[in-house]
Amino acid sequence: MKIAIIGGGYVGLVSGACLATFGASVTIVDRDPTRFAQLQSGHVPIYEPGLDALFTQEAKRGTLRFSADMETALAECEAVFIAVGTPTRRGSGHADLSYVYAVAHDIAKMASHSLLVVTKSTVPVGTGREVSRILRENRPDLTFHIASNPEFLREGNAIDDFMRPDRVIIGLDQQSPDKGAHARALLTELYHPLTTPHNRLTFMGLESAELTKYAANAFLAMKVTFANEMADLCEATGADIREVTHGMGQDPRIGPDFLTPGPGYGGSCFPKDTRALATSARKAGTPTQLIDITIAANEARKQRLADRILSLLDHPIHTKIIAVLGLTFKAHTDDMRDAPALSILPALHEAGARLQLFDPQGMDQARPLLPQDIPYADSALNATEGADVVLILTEWPLFKDLTPQQLSRTMKGRLVLDYRGIWEPTAWQEAGFTYHRLGRKN
Ligand code: NAD
Ligand code: UGA
Repeated sequence: MKIAIIGGGYVGLVSGACLATFGASVTIVDRDPTRFAQLQSGHVPIYEPGLDALFTQEAKRGTLRFSADMETALAECEAVFIAVGTPTRRGSGHADLSYVYAVAHDIAKMASHSLLVVTKSTVPVGTGREVSRILRENRPDLTFHIASNPEFLREGNAIDDFMRPDRVIIGLDQQSPDKGAHARALLTELYHPLTTPHNRLTFMGLESAELTKYAANAFLAMKVTFANEMADLCEATGADIREVTHGMGQDPRIGPDFLTPGPGYGGSCFPKDTRALATSARKAGTPTQLIDITIAANEARKQRLADRILSLLDHPIHTKIIAVLGLTFKAHTDDMRDAPALSILPALHEAGARLQLFDPQGMDQARPLLPQDIPYADSALNATEGADVVLILTEWPLFKDLTPQQLSRTMKGRLVLDYRGIWEPTAWQEAGFTYHRLGRKN
């Protein structure tokens, strides 16, 4: 089956490469000339483990191509996936759907035959119907089938998530059973490796599929926020969050995942999707409370952690050097969107602390987003040179290799703020460091 994917970002590139391995012939279209040039020259423009190898493999097989020209890409395909961004609209919590609707207009303008149009971007309820309206009204001569196929991959684990998903959600147009049946048949064929031995495809209505995506992200964001609040309580009472979440997580109704405390959830999706869901709910006249509180609690957490770090520094603060290890919102990605570092570090910098930064993948993305005078190091160890404090904000595995003996030689001070819980305290304490971890008294 020939398909086109519009948008060559994290979702478009991973989905395109994985669907090519499933047997589809895929053309990825991106309008960003720099991104397109990179893709054409065989360079994967994002850091995602395993994606380079998959691209090389599928490009060699001739199943994965790139184009800046939507018209040519649409000419031969049976289905087109919309995988463009849906960021927060400036000045409101709404999802900015202008990229999605612009693509719908372009498809209407350039399609030469009937097509299945699938929304993979995360979009509020009603967007699929609006895409359908745009297509219908602009091209009454053609038949368009629509479907919603929200994506649940996680950055850093994206290929495995796509190839071995818990479920593939497919929303069909139940107001038009014939069209729904066509979409169901095409998408079942496209995802056929995920239908045996266990069928991972879950079909539902268009609106339900759109909402499922937001509900899942908001629930996970709430779970992380709950773990963060319990971590604070553990610190205040002498309990240990690792023991508490282990005990909670053994109950299958709760489950062990997404209970690791950290500096607040970040990334390109939890923050924007919780905002969009809360805004949609208000607009629908059924305002949420849990989600609004989750958003506020997550924002407050980042500010509180900055205040806590400052309170741990002896005065005068401007003489203190903090080595910050990890800038991205989590490990195994170069994505800096809504990373907690973007809230915490400017607050420390503004208070006068001197920062030395290192991240194995995110430094190029971080530079334009952080105060310009903060220096970056070329290795984790070099970032700790002369530092009073080492602060872990992202759980990159390579940081685990740093030892108290190494840092005793490079650092001036002896304070470790391990806000991702990557190290075991004893070794640091035995080497004379004061060691802080979230969710446990020192
Ligand atoms: P992204 O910003 O990385 O990529 C979007 C790409 O679309 C960009 O390369 C941009 O140039 C391109 N684009 C925009 N308008 C275009 C147009 N008219 N024609 C062609 N290309 C166009 O976005 P992303 O992170 O891949 O997210 C895409 C969608 O998927 C969002 O709705 C997001 O919420 C959702 N999602 C993202 C993830 C994730 O982990 N990043 C996971 C699940 C769902
Ligand atoms: C998240 C969802 O997990 C995906 O299913 C979804 O497809 C995606 O959003 C999306 O819609 O874009 P992602 O943002 O890549 O994926 O990252 P997660 O692994 O979910 O982490 C999100 C944030 O929560 C990170 O800042 C992470 O550090 C934090 N987190 C996560 C914790 O602090 N503790 C945890 O136990 C888990």
